[in-house]
Amino acid sequence: MVVREIRKNIHYVGAIDWDLRLFDQLIPLPDGTSYNAYLIQGRTKTALIDTVDPRQKHVLLSNLEELGIQTIDYVVANHAEHDHSGAIPAILDHYPKAQVVTNEKCKTMLIDSLLVPEARFKTIKDGGKLSLGGKTLEFIFAPWVHWPETMLTYLPEDHILFSCDFLGSHIASSNLYAGKNPDVLRAAKRYYAEIMMPFRPMIKKHLEKLAKLNIELIAPSHGLLYDHPDFILDAYRDWTSDTVKNEVVIPYTSMWGSTKAMVDYLVSALIKRGITAKPFQLSVTDIGELAMALVDAATVVLGSPTVLTGPHPLVAYAAILANALRPKIRFASVIGSYGWGGKMVDQLASMIPNLKVEILPPVIIKGYPKEKDFEALDKLADTIQEKHGTLGS
Ligand code: FEO
Repeated sequence: MVVREIRKNIHYVGAIDWDLRLFDQLIPLPDGTSYNAYLIQGRTKTALIDTVDPRQKHVLLSNLEELGIQTIDYVVANHAEHDHSGAIPAILDHYPKAQVVTNEKCKTMLIDSLLVPEARFKTIKDGGKLSLGGKTLEFIFAPWVHWPETMLTYLPEDHILFSCDFLGSHIASSNLYAGKNPDVLRAAKRYYAEIMMPFRPMIKKHLEKLAKLNIELIAPSHGLLYDHPDFILDAYRDWTSDTVKNEVVIPYTSMWGSTKAMVDYLVSALIKRGITAKPFQLSVTDIGELAMALVDAATVVLGSPTVLTGPHPLVAYAAILANALRPKIRFASVIGSYGWGGKMVDQLASMIPNLKVEILPPVIIKGYPKEKDFEALDKLADTIQEKHGTLGS
């Protein structure tokens, strides 16, 4: 990684991970990622903002060596997850005077998971400040973006917000700044959908808090830095708003073509009614794409064949995932086919208790769809159109 100065005496010292394709053994990373860390040198003290994934600690140490850093006084831990805190033990070994600056909750997590000695901590409170001499660190607690201990660090002299995971994106890039690149916004939306969406109410409050700050640069711990802060803040205001779009997401799979025929028909029926349909064949889809579609949609329709009296496991997975991601969808339904019976609808409904949705009448048929089944799908499309009309979307 190339060390770069982002403001006078503030350097990017993080690591780019070009190769990682799966995060937490769950989240696809089509564009890789980065673990951003920043070194701030005040007149009297030097602070490192977050570290890197422990597998990249050699990059961080080498970056600090390249800058000739002999002493680090503070390592700010905005978040305990290992992709940002995992190299803290290496930093503490290398810089024996360094103290870990964080909140009580994060301190406990770092002691539990990384065995950081308690004596190495300096705990701070929400709104607390720490002077580096001409540069001041201000700590803003922002729980649940996306863990309970998460916080942000603001540097008022340079108007920089170090936001850690919040507002980040999984991208490995030679560029440092996002500018107004739509590709970055797409990656940020994917990141929001997969990681932040379950905490939408909290995120909205944090955004309100940030509106009071004079921010010229947002420096997250993944992806590119936002040199036009409103570029990402406006997008977050949209994604976290209560407004839903005239869109239907259809996660589905099909074994012998009956459910597929139903999905194809419903997609056409929705398009004819001016509704955007987004089908996702779950055996080939990237779940990040599905998560992104759930950010805006008003309705989700699960499509499944009946397998051993229940939904196909891929559809059950999609239902469990949607339940965990807590999108702001308002309506849900199920379509699908069976050979001799089953309880698919009840089982799928029991998998989405977090979703405060109105369940629209499902269309469950025997075998391949016939004329009356297509009529039922038309009726479902009519109902969706009518329901969306009430939203003004
Ligand atoms: Fe990038 Fe929650 O760690």
